[in-house]
Amino acid sequence: MSEKDTKLDIVAIDGPSGVGKSTVSRKIAVALGYAYVDTGAMYRAVAYFLDKKSVNLDDDKGLGEALQAFSISLVPAQTDDDDVGIFVNGEDVGKLVRTPRLAMMASAVSKIPAVRFFLTEMQRSYGERGGIVAEGRDVGTVVFPGAAYKFFLDGNPRERAKRRYAQLLSKGELASLEDILQQTLERDDNDRNRPVAPLKMAEDAFFIDTTALSVQEVVATMLEEIERRREKFPPR
Ligand code: DC
Repeated sequence: MSEKDTKLDIVAIDGPSGVGKSTVSRKIAVALGYAYVDTGAMYRAVAYFLDKKSVNLDDDKGLGEALQAFSISLVPAQTDDDDVGIFVNGEDVGKLVRTPRLAMMASAVSKIPAVRFFLTEMQRSYGERGGIVAEGRDVGTVVFPGAAYKFFLDGNPRERAKRRYAQLLSKGELASLEDILQQTLERDDNDRNRPVAPLKMAEDAFFIDTTALSVQEVVATMLEEIERRREKFPPR
């Protein structure tokens, strides 16, 4: 096998919101001893930054210039049940960006090519040496098409909305299930139908419908598939 045919030692997990990507990604990262890269957090952070600076999203040049002043630091969680810490230019925005409003804003800015290009480069730099679990919408298709272990998780929209709703309630936030369902459907539509890097399954991804599965079942299935692929195609 030539170097060109070997794959990157990266776990790429894509799928729509509420499908369980973050939860299983954290557990897979701990199980393998890999770093966890939450690419959705990066889109949320950029949305927060552009909003705070009142950047005109239709002005490509101004947007590109504004992004030069954006810096992000993702701090690994203490346990595999915690979210990663997110700092934008030194400000702790972890809580601020994990709201339904910022989710919608992230979905809106994520269709802008300049934003995608900027964050894709950053994500690739995190994966240069392999040993990461990265999750999002285009990780297996665009960011790391050469990843050895690709997964696409999907699930029934109402079930996904229920999970998001439960997450928000557990954080003490007020929410309505019907609003969350509406937002889930709207984000699905934005993310699947945008022209640049839409949410779709990579040809070589392993598909899992998580609707009726527990977190443990999804993680076990994924670790088995990673083992199978590792034996068949040892990554570089
Ligand atoms: O995974 P999340 O819910 O935190 O993502 C927020 C939004 O960011 C999502 O609706 C679309 C966008 N996103 C993206 O376009 N590409 C990614 N790789 C990750 C997220």
